[in-house]
Amino acid sequence: MFIKRSRSWQGREADVTPHNLYLDRRRIMQAGGALALTGLVGCGSSESQAENTAASNTTLANSTTQPESSASGLQYRETAYQVSDPQTPYDAVTGYNNFYEFGTSKDDPARYAHRMSVTPWSIEVEGHAARTGTFDLEDVIDYNALEERIYRLRCVEAWSMVIPWIGVPLADVLRRFEPTSDARYVAFETYLNRSEMRGTRFPVLDWPYVEGLRMDEAMNELAFLAVGLYGDLLPNQNGAPVRLVVPWKYGYKSIKSITKIRFVSEQPPTSWNIAAPNEYGFYSNVNPNRAHPRWSQASERVIGGSLFSRRDTEMFNGYGEQVADLYAGMDLIENH
Ligand code: MTE
Repeated sequence: MFIKRSRSWQGREADVTPHNLYLDRRRIMQAGGALALTGLVGCGSSESQAENTAASNTTLANSTTQPESSASGLQYRETAYQVSDPQTPYDAVTGYNNFYEFGTSKDDPARYAHRMSVTPWSIEVEGHAARTGTFDLEDVIDYNALEERIYRLRCVEAWSMVIPWIGVPLADVLRRFEPTSDARYVAFETYLNRSEMRGTRFPVLDWPYVEGLRMDEAMNELAFLAVGLYGDLLPNQNGAPVRLVVPWKYGYKSIKSITKIRFVSEQPPTSWNIAAPNEYGFYSNVNPNRAHPRWSQASERVIGGSLFSRRDTEMFNGYGEQVADLYAGMDLIENH
């Protein structure tokens, strides 16, 4: 039998095969005893424009399968949150990042984020909720209930990825704090340690990074708290140990390395809106019909694809069926 050894992120079947197929094949191999042999292993400017589009299908359903486990010991179950387009290669997902606390170049987070200490980790919960206080991460995230969701990530800079996240629905986490009816929004804050985060020496943003969602957005089935990707724990550059993933909004809403959750009654300030209110609104729903003041949002560069690989940007990043109702009657150009 041919056994190919590669670095964990290199040429994994998962990069070219829909993940469920990959897992099915893996299970078949396991059944044949093959596992023992193989060890199977700001948002500053936009991308340039070119015309090359690909049809997409975002398939959602409620079916689930048996738990998977990963090298790090993360146990998670597969779900039907899938994307028909290929997953972005692991090296691109973890090597081409926005995490301005570590610098503004795309490779700065991969180079410098290892300096951030992520264990132990606690989250302060404040505001309009019955249960508030400081909680260990393990008391916030139920590691026995982890699931995998493959989502599109669309950055406001007009590039996109397809990422297999591991985590839990945000709604499940928030409910456990028993928010009161005064909690109309939920605000999030990123860890801030200036000695570990070299980018925070510069006033690029008003540190710490902050974000927020309306409560009904936060409780939507798609809003997700990720603790892993590609089957393993989140690398620091992707927002370890816990980050938000809001797939129908521009990537900057998906705040990384969360240390505070606050239930509030007024719309909370958000980092990019503070920095440039005319360019970045609170809602930030992916919207090909509203150009950024400095570039079009009609299409996006597919990271990890061929050099000129582009696709048409979809309203709500293709998740309209799940989220359009949240914005019924709203002018989404004005409320961008
Ligand atoms: N969170 C923090 N704390 N700091 C950041 O600079 N960048 C945002 C978002 N979350 C950012 C952040 C932006 S602009 C994007 S596109 C996504 O993270 C990128 O996530 P990724 O690097 O995992 O692809």
